[in-house]
Formats: sequence, structure tokens, C-alpha cells
Amino acid sequence: MTSQIINGKAIAESLLNNIQSKIQQRLQTGKRAPCLVVILVGDDPASTIYVRNKRLACEKVGIQSIAHNLPSSTSQADLFALIDALNADPNVDGILVQSPLPAHIEEDLLIERISTLKDVDGFHPYNIGRLAVRQPTLRSCTPFGVIKMLQASNIELMGLDAVIVGVSNHVGRPMALELLLAGCTITSCHRHTKDLATHVRNADLVVAAAGKPGLIQGDWIKPGAIVVDIGINRLADGRICGDVDFNAAKERASFITPVPGGVGPMTVATLMENTLLGLELREHAQN
Ligand code: GUN
Repeated sequence: MTSQIINGKAIAESLLNNIQSKIQQRLQTGKRAPCLVVILVGDDPASTIYVRNKRLACEKVGIQSIAHNLPSSTSQADLFALIDALNADPNVDGILVQSPLPAHIEEDLLIERISTLKDVDGFHPYNIGRLAVRQPTLRSCTPFGVIKMLQASNIELMGLDAVIVGVSNHVGRPMALELLLAGCTITSCHRHTKDLATHVRNADLVVAAAGKPGLIQGDWIKPGAIVVDIGINRLADGRICGDVDFNAAKERASFITPVPGGVGPMTVATLMENTLLGLELREHAQN
């Protein structure tokens, strides 16, 4: 079987076009554009690239973007004071603090400091909880982007046996909740899973989010299964690859996402959508 390679870049482009026209409609009716604040602490090279991609997407769709590039020595108290000011600013709709953060900043406290209505990453326990009780509002960008990508590819998720590999707070866990909401039977695998290969072999849908290059071997994939690779790993030679042995897996999968050009652009598109939704949520809350 030769698989259909899902073009995340193209699907994300079409989502961005849609968001752009919604923002243009707002402007035509006298409403303001959404505003996203992106905070980068330190100068991690990968984070610098991700933040730039987010700014470019804002420019494309007409979202105002404000950057705070802070030194890695920034104290937790100063960072929290900035978050408090942004929470209180009626012209700010989304607040994103790029991770990873310097070790002296407690990420869990930081995430809970951000207003639930401005949590465009969808990382706040309140927003994860909303998803868990089937009332999603601001949804974690990467898992929500995966769902949108599968929907755009006309893949029916209801009833599929889905295996998620990786249980991080930002990706693996909300991914499992998204797939449960979509009607899948879910299995979450992690470092203590006894027999990862057997779980993957039985899966109709495999979502890899472990951050380990080549973890998922091609011959583990059930013929006709759908394979989504969220891993973004930089190899010693500078190349980027996912968690799945793509070349072998594509001979067995019905659909497969590449790295790069798969899930990555969807994360950015979903962030744009969340920023617009954040503004709309606060507008409705005021009425
Ligand atoms: N670092 C890598 N991906 C992300 C993301 O989606 N959001 C934040 N805040 N940090 C990240």
C-alpha cells in the first residue's frame, strides 16, 4: 500500500486564509483586530525560530503581534508582573510564553498565572479540564491542529482504536482527550508501557508525540493505519525528523504526516484561531 501523505502546510494555509477573512470582516464592521503577545525568555535558537513563525502568521492573517524578548536572567517575579499587566490589558487577547523556560521559572505556576480567557496555548488546567468534560474552549494548539488536519483529510475518527505515544502535559495528554472527544478508543503509551510495539501494531490511528527519533518502527504499523507524527527532533547533522520511521511506515499506512510540513504548521494556524476565539470569548463575556 502506498499512503497518502497529509500536506499539513497546505491545510494550515487554508485555515489561515479563513481566519484572515474573518478578521477582515471584523474590521469592516468597525471591530478591532485580535492582539497576541508572545514572550520569549532567553535565546534558545529553536524557540527563536518558532516565535518568528508565529509572528509571520500573525502578519499574514491580520493579528497584531507584540513581542517581549526578555533576558534569561529575568526573575520569576518580573515575569509574573508582566503577565498580570497583560491579563489586565483589555487590548490583549492572547498571551503565549514560549517554552522551554529557564530552570528558575516554575512553568506550572506561570501557566496558571495566565488568564484562562487569554490562554491561547490551551495549557491552563482550566482549559485542559474543559476539554476533559467535553466542553472545550481554548484547546491546546498541537492536538487541536491534529484533529483539524484529520478532519480536513476526510478521516472519520469515530470508533477508531487510537494509540498515543507520549503523555506530556502540552501534547500527549490533551491529544488523548481530543481523540476521546472525537469518539476514538484511546490508549496512552509512555516510558513504562510494557510492550509498545504490540499496542502500535493493533492501532487504527497512531499519534507519536514522544520526541524520540525513529521510536516507531515502520513494520509496527498495521496495514491501512493512519500515522500522525508530532515529534520534531533535530539530528546531529542538522536535519529535522519525527518519531516515526517515515520511509518504512509510508509503505503500510493509509495516511501519514511528514516531518517537517505535517503537524508543525497546524500548531501555528490553531494558535491564530485561538487568538481570535480569545477575543470573541471576552467580547461575549462583556455582553
Ligand atoms: N515550545 C514549543 N512549542 C510550543 C508551543 O506550542 N507553545 C509554547 N508556549 N511553547 C512552545
